[in-house]
Amino acid sequence: VSVAVYLGSLGRAVPPEQATVSVFDRGFLYGDSLFETLRTAEGRPLDLEAHLERLRSSAAYVHAQVPWSDAALADALAQAHAATGNAESVLRLIVTRGRGPLMLDIRGACDPELVVIARPLVLPSEAEYQRGLAVVCVTGRKSDGRLLDARAKVGNYLPHALALAQATDEGADDAVLVADDGAVLEGPTANVFLVRDGQLATPPIDAGVLPGITREVVLTLARAASLHVAVRRVTADELRRADEALFTSSVRGVMAITRVDGRSLGDSREGPLTRALRSAWAAYVAARP
Ligand SMILES: Cc1ncc(COP(=O)(O)O)c(C=O)c1O
Repeated sequence: VSVAVYLGSLGRAVPPEQATVSVFDRGFLYGDSLFETLRTAEGRPLDLEAHLERLRSSAAYVHAQVPWSDAALADALAQAHAATGNAESVLRLIVTRGRGPLMLDIRGACDPELVVIARPLVLPSEAEYQRGLAVVCVTGRKSDGRLLDARAKVGNYLPHALALAQATDEGADDAVLVADDGAVLEGPTANVFLVRDGQLATPPIDAGVLPGITREVVLTLARAASLHVAVRRVTADELRRADEALFTSSVRGVMAITRVDGRSLGDSREGPLTRALRSAWAAYVAARP
């Protein structure tokens, strides 16, 4: 199993043990960094333009600099992937605000760091996709959709990590973050959809969720298949009573949610609409140049 790391400060990919970042880097000190997680398809990063666009809008929300061109970022991704020797990779692209004098003030930061970690792409098995995930709803970790930086993919994922920890402590596979007013937001690393009476619904971005690239693709695929899709407020109660629910994310694609807070959705297996969207997603990935 081969892992490789491209470091902007070196300008090349190296084995993981040679890839080091300063302890004064604000990514380390404050989670003051941006990131994107992508997968390759036939060796090329999937939806690269959308990921680079989101990286730049995340940077704008938090007043960070990304002083590399899209071509330079694409080259860093390609070098990291090539250095692994694997057919397909999961690529984590990280841009930190750089080093600072141990003070919160962002004006003191210099030398943003660019890191790409490439590791082998491992997808859930067919049986895992069909079994789906048991989730629990977690409140009190993320609540305010009015904060613009709720839409930025920044390094500090502690609220999401703690939501996941709560879910696994309770014996579930994953969490769904729910706002204080009962509105469903997203999973720790995925957007959420539900199906009720043949209709799909997913929360709007301004509820305080990451503008997921897979969410957008799935919305397009669903509309192309003439499914009825609403982007609207979804409550945790509704999620518990849904016929089907699913997560979308760049690596797993479409993953069924088959239990919510201990209650089965449908017959506790991936439902027909989720199945159709997973197939449509697989066809979308296979059709990438
Ligand atoms: C909080 C959060 N929501 C949603 C997603 C899904 O986004 P994408 O489809 O762009 O991978 C992610 C991805 O990691 C995430 O971290």
